Amino acid sequence: ARIRHHKWELKYEYKSPDCFRKLVITVNGRSPGPTILAQKGDTIVVEVKNSLGTENAAIHWHGIRQIGTPWFDGTEGVTQCPILPGETFTYRFVVDRAGTYIYHAHYGMQREGGLYGSIRVALPDGESEPFAYDYDRSILLNDWYHKSTYEQAAGLSDKNFSWVGEPQSLLIQGRGKFNCFTVTDPNSLCDTSNPECSPYVLTVVPGKTYRLRLSSVTALSALSFQIEGHNMTVVEADGHYVEPFEVKSLFIYSGETYSVLIKADQDPSRNYWIQTDVVSRKPNTTSGSAILNYYPNHPRRPPPTPTPARPQWDDADSRLSQSLSIKARRGLGRPPPATSDRVILLLNTQNEADGYRRWSVNNVSFNHPHTPYLIALKHKLTGEFDQTPPPDGYDFKNFDIWVKQNNSNATTSSGIYRLKFSTTVDIILQNANTMNVNDSETHPWHLHGHDFWVLGYGLGKFDLFKDPKKYNLVDPIEKNTVPVHRYGWTALRFVADNPGAWAFHCHIESHFYMGMGVVFEEGIERVGKLPSSIMGCGASKGLGFP
Ligand code: C2O
Ligand code: CU
Repeated sequence: ARIRHHKWELKYEYKSPDCFRKLVITVNGRSPGPTILAQKGDTIVVEVKNSLGTENAAIHWHGIRQIGTPWFDGTEGVTQCPILPGETFTYRFVVDRAGTYIYHAHYGMQREGGLYGSIRVALPDGESEPFAYDYDRSILLNDWYHKSTYEQAAGLSDKNFSWVGEPQSLLIQGRGKFNCFTVTDPNSLCDTSNPECSPYVLTVVPGKTYRLRLSSVTALSALSFQIEGHNMTVVEADGHYVEPFEVKSLFIYSGETYSVLIKADQDPSRNYWIQTDVVSRKPNTTSGSAILNYYPNHPRRPPPTPTPARPQWDDADSRLSQSLSIKARRGLGRPPPATSDRVILLLNTQNEADGYRRWSVNNVSFNHPHTPYLIALKHKLTGEFDQTPPPDGYDFKNFDIWVKQNNSNATTSSGIYRLKFSTTVDIILQNANTMNVNDSETHPWHLHGHDFWVLGYGLGKFDLFKDPKKYNLVDPIEKNTVPVHRYGWTALRFVADNPGAWAFHCHIESHFYMGMGVVFEEGIERVGKLPSSIMGCGASKGLGFP
């Protein structure tokens, strides 16, 4: 195993990723940031210098479990104090499993400012994947807004609520195209001929097989991804091998990663469209396009065909059926424990609390305290967060998930779930109607510090007696992010065996910002001495120093 050292500088710079010039958070001048390449067992060291000027920062290594290093998970308010402007913070952790992961900002809504990138962990020398390919490529998918994250955050947390709306464009590996003709502001710097927004080009050699590592870091959107004329074989999800299945169009939710194989076996005299579209919400964003370039055609030569048809945005059945198709690869999956020690039902609702628009879980909207949980727990600073844990369920019998919610009485709390170390926990995420008639949204939930087995998905209200009998305990996939479909439920199982404090939240940036998340603590007494570099804020001032 090797040590992979990186030196990063975070900065605001003017960029035109979709032809519209705005301030973007860059890592060493780039957004997406550099791809971290490693082999299983390597230690990654990233020295992050925060040169954002007036803004804090923190970087989360999404999908890396941080076993033994819970303090380097990079979640501001949960595992560390923010990195202050001008400061340098060093992350140091082991990548203990091969697969496709991502990194992104985990401070406020900074991720959508452009701070994100890919992590690709290869197998050690001499080991090989259970599938064959000639080349390996990482492609990040994102949705893009022109307003600053501050403007958006201010709107969301105002009593006079202002929603972020649909994104202005979709980016494929950091490039998109906004229709500049719709901009009326004469001072706007929107220029479709700017080379920064020329489409991403994936060049392929005829006859070769490519492993595409697709990751979504969207702020809001669920996406479909397709390559004109080429089927994709799904082989990996969130760092776990999938029993291969073919798709024309892959649905991917924020925080998910997939590897698909494509074979460059079509007419090599032309190029093809790569396309991503918004699904699950009524789109008001044009398709994101890139080019699949067959060598030696000119990489910029547009395909001779019109761009592919968008999949039906409201075809919920196809999305649910893809979710159900994802199983662990035969012979390579780890079976889950047969039973669980605790079942936590988490009802997802849109609410109002004190006149503010919020998202809640079991009618509790999450607010994280100033002192990070990991520090408060370890140092027993009980005054730093609400000591009453949030409820393990909701009024299950009487709650109607199909009707417009009118709950104006959600509470906000910084309470957390304390899990008994090494126990097996089931989580049932239950979706419901929003505060609008006939409306339910898709929420991608992401767990830090663990992978969970996906035991099942269903439509309607979860049945505590019947549905667990239908759990897949034979070949469930392990993941770290999973969609909860409209009006549906998703059942997960994990073992609470990683000492630390871990966020579990909707990966939609504005939803988490509006309270859609919880924190789990387990084995805090087993956590080693916390590094002083994570301290300095709230009640952790002066802690960790002799
Ligand atoms: Cu990728 Cu807590 O997030
Ligand atoms: Cu959500």
